[in-house]
Amino acid sequence: MLENVQPAPPDAILGLTEAFRNDPNPEKINLGVGVYCDENGKTPVLGSVKQAERRILETETAKSYLPIDGNKDYAARVQALLFGAGSEIIAARRAATSQTPGGTGALRVAADFIHKAFPGATVWLSQPTWPNHPQILAAAGVPAKSYPYFDPATNALDFAAMKAALQEVSAGDVVLLHGCCHNPSGVDPSPEQWSEIGRLLVERGAIPLIDFAYQGFGLGLEEDAAGLRALLAVCPEMLIASSFSKNFGLYGERVGALTVLAQDAEAAARVQSQIKSVIRANYSNPPMHGAAIVATILGDEALREQWEGELAAMRDRINGMRRAFVETLAAKGVSRDFSFITRQLGMFSFSGLEKEQIERLRRDYSIYILGSGRINVAGITPSNIDRLCSAIGAVL
Ligand SMILES: Cc1ncc(COP(=O)(O)O)c(C=O)c1O
Repeated sequence: MLENVQPAPPDAILGLTEAFRNDPNPEKINLGVGVYCDENGKTPVLGSVKQAERRILETETAKSYLPIDGNKDYAARVQALLFGAGSEIIAARRAATSQTPGGTGALRVAADFIHKAFPGATVWLSQPTWPNHPQILAAAGVPAKSYPYFDPATNALDFAAMKAALQEVSAGDVVLLHGCCHNPSGVDPSPEQWSEIGRLLVERGAIPLIDFAYQGFGLGLEEDAAGLRALLAVCPEMLIASSFSKNFGLYGERVGALTVLAQDAEAAARVQSQIKSVIRANYSNPPMHGAAIVATILGDEALREQWEGELAAMRDRINGMRRAFVETLAAKGVSRDFSFITRQLGMFSFSGLEKEQIERLRRDYSIYILGSGRINVAGITPSNIDRLCSAIGAVL
């Protein structure tokens, strides 16, 4: 049987990383991969994470299974990050949180739950979106459709087209929205637009699924939750997939969460029982270590302060590189206006570079950018920015 299995196509993002790794050029630059890099091009382990791990190592007494929905302290801390510590939602127990293996795990559990509970539902995805979104939905057997989002002519949100498409959403559908720092475009709705989106979904009888993978990478922990909070004010029900891969630098530890918000505590508990049955048949229960780190940091005042400082440093570095990138291109006499890069948020931006230019950057300069033109701004450093901007000037 196995003799006849054909190879699957390589993953576009991971394939590019492989090509980068094999490139012998010592001056190669990787703007393809989706991880944060510091000014030395390294993905650091945060000091707060190391401290928390030391504490866990000293105090841990068991390696036994976690409950199906994971670490309870972690779940409570995740809800405080999402809703704000004093939120009425938490007091009313309207939300239930499951610890999941990464944000991807949360999205897959959400997709399996949607498939089981709402077999007629379509999930709507922004055009463009993170390429794993359609793959996860397809794997779970959930139909997907797209709504317009990014306008390449203005390098901004095409809100009129987005709203027009969302008018077509059927009752019982699910609309996936990036909570902040949209991947791949770096373009987010304003708080007023978020409220309008929420009202539109309520009118249509649809619920939002928020993919929240970059809280704290745009403007700040609370600031980046503004869109979610605006939606909460109008939408009584939603699903939220959190990832702590980026904001805690815990990529390989696989730390995420799926939170369901229902109209009351009883409905939240019923939904949670369904989610637990989905998880049980998938990975049974989540891995301990990463969530223990997050719960330890968020539950300790000094560690939390340290983490918030480290998160701010990552955010400030990215935003600083956005400004430096635009300034350096201009200083090199590049006439195209790249100022939109400074208006975008998070790790990614659409550069607007075309296929042929991207190919030349790779072939002639060992600069790796995704075929879509998405760049990881965190891959730009003070030591590679000059070479990068000269090469972009040359291919333009
Ligand atoms: C938009 C988006 N959602 C979800 C994820 C999931 O991240 P992870 O599964 O590594 O936590 C990512 C990671 O790149 C992402 O960019």
